[in-house]
Amino acid sequence: IDNVGGDTDTKTLQRFIISATKDIQLTLLMTSIQMGCKSIARAVRKAGIAGLYGLHGSENVSGDQVKKLDVLSDEIFVNCLKESHCCAVLVSEERDDPIIVEAAKAGKYCVAFDPLDGSSNIDCNVSTGTIFAIYERISASDQSPSVTDILRAGTAIVAAGYCMYGSATDLVLTFGHGVHRFTLDPTLGEFIHTQGPVKLPAKPKHIYSCNEGNYSLWDDAMRAAVDAFKHQDPPYAARYVGSMVSDVHRTLLYGGIFLYPADRKSKIGKLRVLYEGFPMAKIVEDAGGIATTGLFQGKIQRVLDLHPSNVHDRCPIILGTPSDVQRVLDVYAQVI
Ligand code: AHG
Ligand code: MN
Ligand code: MN
Ligand code: MN
Repeated sequence: IDNVGGDTDTKTLQRFIISATKDIQLTLLMTSIQMGCKSIARAVRKAGIAGLYGLHGSENVSGDQVKKLDVLSDEIFVNCLKESHCCAVLVSEERDDPIIVEAAKAGKYCVAFDPLDGSSNIDCNVSTGTIFAIYERISASDQSPSVTDILRAGTAIVAAGYCMYGSATDLVLTFGHGVHRFTLDPTLGEFIHTQGPVKLPAKPKHIYSCNEGNYSLWDDAMRAAVDAFKHQDPPYAARYVGSMVSDVHRTLLYGGIFLYPADRKSKIGKLRVLYEGFPMAKIVEDAGGIATTGLFQGKIQRVLDLHPSNVHDRCPIILGTPSDVQRVLDVYAQVI
């Protein structure tokens, strides 16, 4: 027995997927997604040696300066998804338009993804990640799929997850029935189940997470809400990595609040709905948290209830421990 390291019943992500869904296409799709994440993890960890740091020299539709690793990660993920033969429509942060998969390789799922999140951190080796959300197409299989298969409310998501390339490679996933955490065992090349169902802590750490460089651009309510976290006794701790995956992963596991509000510069917020806001909102809600836009388009909105009109739409994001998020909503309630 010892020669197998004492583990004769390894709880892999693959086994979790098979047991969690009886749908063979979703199983195959998740197999391809985890291969994509392992491949991007390898590229991220070799980037410094392989000369993959730095700019690609282009700008994406969101106006981001695209990094070499953004393009590489996008190509890895697009190929994994296309070759799964389970996808009909793909939306990537790094592609202006949705990809309609050729009929010979088309399947019944649609995936929106951020191939490399936090890529401004890649050259200094601060953690980054990949984020994805999965929908089932609504167009009939004899119709050609289209963007309407994926431009839907976040409540239609069937699965959401992220992979974080940190000190370990963690993959967090929900099929809507509980959030589970897996850690890559590089000696096996498999993600191993390490935690789940994951719930936001009942005794959360007092942490607020936002880019305070934007403080002067926020509206009065947001400034008052963040000031309250800083000026109470004892004050909240400030933690901000600048990669959404890392800031959300810490919020999920430790509790607290993550905020990327709208401001005078980014009037509808910076984070993109389909491949940042929705998947993270789905995961946080399934873990017992709240994900709201705060005051947006004249009202307080649950992120998952938004109905995007463009695949690169943005929205403000305030998510995390319910009591912390509620304190922000209470401030907004006084001004509307
Ligand atoms: P991406 O690297 O995929 O473009 O996403 C970057 C996002 C998100 O990861 C993070 O929360 C946010 O940008 C940080 O923005 P600031 O640098 O403006 O704080
Ligand atoms: Mn980007
Ligand atoms: Mn991102
Ligand atoms: Mn990105």
